Amino acid sequence: MTEADTKQEAKKVPAWRRKKVGCCIVLGCIILIIVIAVVISVATKHKKHAVGGEFSKDFTVSWAPNHTRLSNHGRRLELFLDPESGSGFKSNNAFLFGSISMDIKLVPADSAGTVTAYYLFSEAANHDELDFEFLGNSSGEPYILQTNVFANGTGEREQRINLWFDPTTDYHRYGVLWNRRQIVFLVDDLPIRVFTNNEDMGMAYPNQQPMRLYSSLWNGDKWATQGGRVKIDWTHAPFIASYQNYHLDACPATDSLAPCASPVANQWWDQPEYQTLSATKQDKLRWVEQNYMVYNYCSDMKRNNGTVPSECTRNSAGFLGLDSLPH
Ligand SMILES: *[C@@H]1O[C@H](CO)[C@@H](O)[C@H](O)[C@H]1NC(C)=O
Ligand SMILES: *[C@@H]1O[C@H](CO)[C@@H](O)[C@H](O)[C@H]1NC(C)=O
Ligand SMILES: *[C@@H]1O[C@H](CO)[C@@H](O)[C@H](O)[C@H]1NC(C)=O
Ligand SMILES: *[C@@H]1O[C@H](CO)[C@@H](O)[C@H](O)[C@H]1NC(C)=O
Repeated sequence: MTEADTKQEAKKVPAWRRKKVGCCIVLGCIILIIVIAVVISVATKHKKHAVGGEFSKDFTVSWAPNHTRLSNHGRRLELFLDPESGSGFKSNNAFLFGSISMDIKLVPADSAGTVTAYYLFSEAANHDELDFEFLGNSSGEPYILQTNVFANGTGEREQRINLWFDPTTDYHRYGVLWNRRQIVFLVDDLPIRVFTNNEDMGMAYPNQQPMRLYSSLWNGDKWATQGGRVKIDWTHAPFIASYQNYHLDACPATDSLAPCASPVANQWWDQPEYQTLSATKQDKLRWVEQNYMVYNYCSDMKRNNGTVPSECTRNSAGFLGLDSLPH
């Protein structure tokens, strides 16, 4: 059939039928629009979380706004430390479970005595807390990343690693994956530490208190660098740590725990593949433990009165380094 023929055919259709066809087209369009809207909303549902946006949307400067600076259209935040003050910020929402991360560039050159703390914290009396603490160092000497886990007010679970890159020349991603079964500390998506749910051993696990994401830059020269022997050299101030590209893919529980604590919440981080470390991830964790760990509370025999805390074997990729680590 040619185009002309088609037009002829159309003309032959009676008026009442054309009207009906018109109605059907309108109805079809409406249904199509609804279907498209539903598909789009389903497709973007898991992207509702805040990704790398403007800091002012999801964070508040909670300490010394006059020692912070926003740049890159509000998508980069810098914290300053000088003799007058350090500074810090926190997320507006508190979260219970999820994946939280941010790209950070640490204080360059002589950062001795400075501490850049980056942590989840619940503000409650018997608080929960997941810590990354970056301990500065003299120019050219390695930063130490100290991690710790507090559950129901109990911490004292420090681990320290050296990083396998210079954290001051580029942004690197630091984050946690936190669900009912485990907490994985990640550096550039490599697991550096895992803390499993050991409630079956009578040990508290962070699963009842929503936590905000915090970060601050402060003077820690009483203890941070070489046990406090190296002090801050203020002639090198201001010290600056930079942040960008945050991901808060987590369940907001600021007002109520219920939706996040519900066992039927069934978020992506509740899926089986996130309940334990895969064999590949275990290998990566073992690589970190064997090559970069410089302190592990698990092997601090003096502190533990000659015992290994019961959770330690579960929380390691098989390397406790009992003999090789400094006490
Ligand atoms: C900057 O803020 C800090 C902390 O709030 C305060 O102690 C200090 O006086 C402020 N400095 C100036 C120059 O306003
Ligand atoms: C948390 O600690 C408090 C006081 O130390 C204790 O009474 C409570 O049972 C603990 N809760 C859990 C879940 O371990
Ligand atoms: C700083 O550098 C010294 C010398 O390399 C090293 O012993 C120490 O572990 C480093 N880190 C800190 C935080 O002291
Ligand atoms: C080790 O013993 C000391 C002194 O008895 C005690 O205060 C401390 O809590 C013990 N530490 C551990 C981890 O059991």
